[in-house]
Amino acid sequence: MSLIEIQDCRLAFDGFEGRVHVLDGIDLAIESGESVGIVGETGCGKSALARSLLRLNPAPPARIVSGAIRYDGADILAMDAAALRRLRGGTIGMVFQDPVTYLNPVFTIGRQMEEVLRAHESGLSRAQRRARCIELLDSVRLPQAASLLDRYPHELSGGMRQRVLIAEALAGNPRVLVADEPTTALDVTIQRQILALIAGLVARLGLTLMLISHDLGVIGAACRRIVVMYAGTIVEDAPAEALFAEPQHPYTRGLLAAMPDLRQPDHMPSGIPGSIPNLRDPPQGCRFHPRCPLAMSVCRSARPVLRGAPHAVACHAVGDWAVAP
Ligand SMILES: Nc1ncnc2c1ncn2[C@@H]1O[C@H](COP(=O)(O)OP(=O)(O)OP(=O)(O)O)[C@@H](O)[C@H]1O
Ligand SMILES: [Mg+2]
Repeated sequence: MSLIEIQDCRLAFDGFEGRVHVLDGIDLAIESGESVGIVGETGCGKSALARSLLRLNPAPPARIVSGAIRYDGADILAMDAAALRRLRGGTIGMVFQDPVTYLNPVFTIGRQMEEVLRAHESGLSRAQRRARCIELLDSVRLPQAASLLDRYPHELSGGMRQRVLIAEALAGNPRVLVADEPTTALDVTIQRQILALIAGLVARLGLTLMLISHDLGVIGAACRRIVVMYAGTIVEDAPAEALFAEPQHPYTRGLLAAMPDLRQPDHMPSGIPGSIPNLRDPPQGCRFHPRCPLAMSVCRSARPVLRGAPHAVACHAVGDWAVAP
C-alpha cells in the first residue's frame, strides 16, 4: 500500500454554463519519503489535484465524479469533519501559491502562528506555544525569530513571508508537505533559497513532498520524480533524471524545449504551438492531440493509458506499445 493513492480520480466543476472536466482519470501513487514534482501549463489542474488531497476544492461547484483518494489506506473522500481537521496540517501540511493571501494583514506573525498551533497541539501553554513558534521560525532559517513574532506580514519581504507559511505548514508535525508554487512570486535568488530550504526540511524531517510548479527547473531542483500534467490528465510520470534525459511524451518534449538554455543565449527556445483546450468541451481521445506533432487517427478517438514503470507515459505514438502511424 502506498502512502498516498489516487485512483482514476475525476473532478468536475459544475457551473452555469455546464460542467468543466478539470481532472480526468488521475492515477498517482506516492510512497512514503518520495519527493514528487507536478508540472504543467497554467490551468492543467495542478492546484485542483493538490487541493483534492485535502478536500479543499470548494464544493459546490467542485465535485469528485468518480475515483478514490486514500492516505495510508484511509478513504479521504469519506472522512468526517474531525478526521479532515486532523488530515489538514496534522498529516498533510500545505503551502499555497500566494503568501499574501494566506497571511492575515491585521494580525502579527506570532498571533497567526499560535492559532495554527492551537488547532494541532491544544495541550500547550501560552509560553510553550511561543517557544514552539520560535523553534518553527528557526527551522525555516528566519533570523531573530522572537522579534519576528511581534511583526505584521507587511513588514516582511516576500521570501520571509513564504518562510513563515512553510513554518505554519510544519506546525502540526505533518508527514507530507504539499507546496503549490511556493516560489512563483519570488525573484530567482530567493526562489533558490526557498527550494533549498524545502529540500533540506524534507530530508531532515523525513517528509514526503508534493511540489507543484509550472517551471521544470524548479521541480528538477527539488524532486526525484516528476509527474507531467496536461489538461487534467497525467501524460508522463518518471524519475527526474530519466525525464530530463529521455522525455517520452511529445508534450514533455515541448516543455523541455521551451526551457531557456543559459549556455546558448542566442538560441531562442521553441514553444508548444496552440494553447490548452477548453475543459468544458475537451478534445476526444488524447487531450493533447490537437497540438501534437505525432498525432495519428487513433489519438483522436482513443484515450491513451498511462503505462510503464518506473517511466510511465500515456501516448499512442511512443513506447513498446506504440501504434504504427
Ligand atoms: N472554482 C472553480 N470553478 C470553476 N472552475 C475552476 C475553479 N477552480 C479552478 N477551475 C478550473 O480548473 C482548471 C484547473 O485549475 P487549477 O487552478 O488547478 O490549474 P493550475 O494547473 O493550478 O494552474 P496555475 O499554474 O495557473 O496555478 C482550470 O481550467 C480552472 O479554470
Ligand atoms: Mg495552481
